[in-house]
Amino acid sequence: MLKATVKYLAQETSIHGFKFLANKKVNKFLRLFWFFSLLLSISVLLWYAKGLYVKLNFEPEINVRVKFKSMSEIPFPAVTICDSVFAKNNSINFIQYFNNKRLNSQKNMTVEGKHIMAANIHVCAPHLSFFNQDFDDKRSDFDIVKVLNDSSLRTDEIFLLCSYKKTLAADCNNIFNKVLTDNGFCHSANMQGYNTIFNKNVLSKDFDSYKRKNISSSWLHKTRQVNDDNETIYWTLDSGYIDDSDDSNVIPKRANKQNFFNNYLFINHIDKENYCPQLGKIFKIFFHLPNEMPTIFNREYSIEIGHQKLMFLNAKLYTSDESLKGYTPKQRQCYFEGEKNLKFFKSYTKSHCDWECVTNYTLDICGCTKFSMPRDNNTPVCDMQKKKCYYNAMLTWPNNRSFYENNDNPCDCYETCNDIKYEINYEDDSDFHNFYSLSLLKNAQE
Ligand SMILES: *[C@@H]1O[C@H](CO)[C@@H](O)[C@H](O)[C@H]1NC(C)=O
Ligand SMILES: *[C@@H]1O[C@H](CO)[C@@H](O)[C@H](O)[C@H]1NC(C)=O
Ligand SMILES: *[C@@H]1O[C@H](CO)[C@@H](O)[C@H](O)[C@H]1NC(C)=O
Ligand SMILES: *[C@@H]1O[C@H](CO)[C@@H](O)[C@H](O)[C@H]1NC(C)=O
Ligand SMILES: *[C@@H]1O[C@H](CO)[C@@H](O)[C@H](O)[C@H]1NC(C)=O
Ligand SMILES: *[C@@H]1O[C@H](CO)[C@@H](O)[C@H](O)[C@H]1NC(C)=O
Ligand SMILES: *[C@@H]1O[C@H](CO)[C@@H](O)[C@H](O)[C@H]1NC(C)=O
Repeated sequence: MLKATVKYLAQETSIHGFKFLANKKVNKFLRLFWFFSLLLSISVLLWYAKGLYVKLNFEPEINVRVKFKSMSEIPFPAVTICDSVFAKNNSINFIQYFNNKRLNSQKNMTVEGKHIMAANIHVCAPHLSFFNQDFDDKRSDFDIVKVLNDSSLRTDEIFLLCSYKKTLAADCNNIFNKVLTDNGFCHSANMQGYNTIFNKNVLSKDFDSYKRKNISSSWLHKTRQVNDDNETIYWTLDSGYIDDSDDSNVIPKRANKQNFFNNYLFINHIDKENYCPQLGKIFKIFFHLPNEMPTIFNREYSIEIGHQKLMFLNAKLYTSDESLKGYTPKQRQCYFEGEKNLKFFKSYTKSHCDWECVTNYTLDICGCTKFSMPRDNNTPVCDMQKKKCYYNAMLTWPNNRSFYENNDNPCDCYETCNDIKYEINYEDDSDFHNFYSLSLLKNAQE
């Protein structure tokens, strides 16, 4: 039966060669020849199909289309500003400490002074190891984050004036929130709320500084306070602005032309002389996504004290077609919303993932994390003895081949499929003095 069917098919088929196979009259060698020819062509076809399959699944071809969108569909980045003052109010003078050490005329420090010194060395000079004997701090002895908070400038001590849309804000406290970063306590504007950025009930209370206090959504009127416990979400990375109305009283602000934003930084004269020499007399500025905390993966810009910079914002918005969702994240090398969960961060971004990955690595290698790393209440914070360890861990991550077993992307921290990249260009502006009367700036200029 089967034989008859095969014979029938072979005779009727239009594929040349089959006819000969089934025809008993044809020479045996010729039939063998056709058999192998057919086998070869089917193999080539299968091999080709496999190539296409592999290409489609593992090396998909990506079409890139460039479109111009209105700037108002993109949020203004969150801005974080850090000063380089070593300790507020000259309570411990870093440079003086060095001079005394050199002259061998070190006076005994109070216990409180030692704590201020130790905490701020973690921020200012983690790579200098010779402090270890001088400041034998232990986490149990004192709370490093509290000491950093108390010895750093308040928002209203660093910002003299903030202006937004050509209007002076009544109070910079309504715009900036003082937050814990790798650079110690800094001041952030245009960030979304704690519960949008972080997972609930996992982080140490040291990160409670990200709960926005006294922040006004309009930036100018204190009546419109944001509520972090019940945040209205106006923007997400995957969907963009949820509400199309061009309401300017929302956070994050839209990056349109009208939304320019000036800050006038101010630190008092004594503090200016007690700066971290590793940094110089500068302010550091970081631009990051509004759903992101500032991390070491954000590029830093600096402004010298007494100078002004005009910064120009360029944003590139990357959107991926929904059809890519059919591929696994590994194939497309990116995540859509909700595809990758992090322990501490509710919002997935590449820098959040990398930051958590370095943290896990540091915890594994050193048994503790740097004060600025995401952690829960039970994770030990590295003290002075472990300073060198976390410093090296941060330097060698992620290139420890024996630890990550040649995995190029150790924690699978891919980019997000929808993303915004900010680029900043700047110009030094010499017309600084024309902006406000000289008397206001006198201190900053000295
Ligand atoms: C600075 O510290 C000194 C001495 O501790 C204190 O008398 C003074 O009030 C402080 N100034 C400020 C602005 O905190
Ligand atoms: C500093 O402390 C050491 C040990 O605690 C003590 O021996 C020394 O006398 C102190 N020096 C001064 C100047 O108080
Ligand atoms: C920092 O100090 C301020 C008071 O100056 C306090 O209100 C705030 O809760 C402190 N934050 C942290 C994280 O300790
Ligand atoms: C909140 O802001 C108002 C001004 O809008 C200011 O007077 C007040 O001191 C601020 N409160 C805190 C806790 O920063
Ligand atoms: C949160 O906000 C919504 C809308 O503004 C409101 O209806 C709801 O009662 C609020 N919930 C809480 C717990 O405050
Ligand atoms: C870091 O470690 C925690 C706990 O082991 C884990 O839940 C989390 O997924 C890790 N983070 C990353 C980015 O791998
Ligand atoms: C790399 O990781 C191993 C543990 O797997 C650790 O013992 C070693 O110290 C690490 N190397 C560096 C340079 O940190």
